[in-house]
Amino acid sequence: MRLVLGLTALLCSLTDSLQQPCKSPPYLTGNLIVGEGKIWNYEYNAALQRMRVYETEHHTNQTFTYDYLLHFREGVMYEIDGQTFTCTKKPLRTEYQPIGIPHDADYLDNFVLGSLSVPKAGISMQAWTGYTSGGEEYSMCVTEEGCVPYYTIYNTEKYGEVVLVFMNSTMHTTPQDDLNPPRFCPNTKSAARPVDLVSLFSKSKARLLTRTLTKLKNVYLNDYTVLNVHV
Ligand SMILES: *[C@@H]1O[C@H](CO)[C@@H](O)[C@H](O)[C@H]1NC(C)=O
Ligand SMILES: *[C@@H]1O[C@H](CO)[C@@H](O)[C@H](O)[C@H]1NC(C)=O
Repeated sequence: MRLVLGLTALLCSLTDSLQQPCKSPPYLTGNLIVGEGKIWNYEYNAALQRMRVYETEHHTNQTFTYDYLLHFREGVMYEIDGQTFTCTKKPLRTEYQPIGIPHDADYLDNFVLGSLSVPKAGISMQAWTGYTSGGEEYSMCVTEEGCVPYYTIYNTEKYGEVVLVFMNSTMHTTPQDDLNPPRFCPNTKSAARPVDLVSLFSKSKARLLTRTLTKLKNVYLNDYTVLNVHV
């Protein structure tokens, strides 16, 4: 038994030393799907450790925007509403950084996404795994060529499994944007509890649910006969 464990450890350390995590492209823009299919836009700047995730939702009469600027190095996040020119600066927990394989990640496997039998129908991928600073397991999958992010999965205690899928990523040789906050953002951090990338997606889902419920409530309240209530 001890021998087997020793051999496994040896093999692991051997494969570890053979496989260094690849380096993801420094400047990326593209789309990001999280959870139940909502499509976000993202912008990433590895040199500054900054990421912007944003999207616009069109409803019958209204347009909602979600726009988050994440400064991982500084540990701050800006939540921006470009329609009302409001902005809050919050403390950011930094354990969920979905692009770039951490240097201490373990190589998991490689595989072909699609098929190599048909020209242009297959992509060689690499999967890596490890634990965040908070002790939660993650796995990351990138293209073998170029180390472009494909998916990142966090196994979180609070939200369960959170899957981020990257699509339409474009590599840039220079930063598109410094991802600095707009002028109307405050300098001081609010005393709010720290947020993290994963909670943002869950939060936007919660907000959407609240809106839907409010809408439903209004429908019901106007249709007294349905509910048979006296307002
Ligand atoms: C949309 O706007 C119209 C006119 O302002 C209003 O009558 C209607 O109730 C609104 N619909 C929703 C879903 O808010
Ligand atoms: C991704 O790129 C394809 C091809 O350019 C485009 O048709 C598609 O709309 C893009 N997807 C999103 C979510 O923008």
